Amino acid sequence: SDYLASKTLFKHCFIFNELDSTNNEAMKSTYPHYSLIIAEKQYAGKGRSGRKWVSDEGNLYFSIVLPPMPVEQLLPLNISTGYAICDALRNYADVSLKWPNDIVFNNKKLGGILIETKFSGNILEKIVLGIGINVNQLDFSHDIKEIATSLAIITERQYRTEEILWQILNNFEKNYTDLLKKRIDIIEKWCKYSMNFGKMIKIHLDGEKMELIEKGITDKGELIAVDHFGNERKIVLGDIYL
Ligand code: BTN
Repeated sequence: SDYLASKTLFKHCFIFNELDSTNNEAMKSTYPHYSLIIAEKQYAGKGRSGRKWVSDEGNLYFSIVLPPMPVEQLLPLNISTGYAICDALRNYADVSLKWPNDIVFNNKKLGGILIETKFSGNILEKIVLGIGINVNQLDFSHDIKEIATSLAIITERQYRTEEILWQILNNFEKNYTDLLKKRIDIIEKWCKYSMNFGKMIKIHLDGEKMELIEKGITDKGELIAVDHFGNERKIVLGDIYL
């Protein structure tokens, strides 16, 4: 499209009718940096922590192949991608962020990010950034009805998925180039879109379930939370359950 052609970052765009997972496809060594792998549906879509990501037609499923970066950049990349998505979707609905990178509306999940990497020492040699957004889906199966939603359900209209994609890519490109130059300066803005500060959260950490109060995030994107004893803890990555 015109949008993609005019962009410096995403010059290679591969669109598939169906894939197992755009992340799996993007992991193949044939794709140059900044390739965009898009599928209309996935039959084995992957979510975080080994969960599956239900991927029916009508939604957005794509992965971006990124050039190597240091391991420390992984969390900032998560945070700034979440912000880019949330900022784009806010043009349509009052969506929020849940650390590290869930996009939610009324406690229901609307989108998520799965970053897969291959690393060697301190360097992420291969980075695949996968994004899934529920755009036009009106019905979810029984098991996820209570926890999933879509833009179409929230706003009662249908969308061209490209329109949403362009806005996300546009935002992503801005934040990503900032991220490479210096520390992320979007933390403050990220916090404005967060729904959990001051609230009790349940988190899986080192195989343990803990209840903590979410306080904020550091300038590196780590979660600051307080435990039962009033001790502050910094959480780098883990899964939060509401
Ligand atoms: C999450 O669990 O929150 C992350 C969901 C990520 C889903 C996207 S859809 C495109 C890409 N390909 C996959 O198999 N997963 C990601």
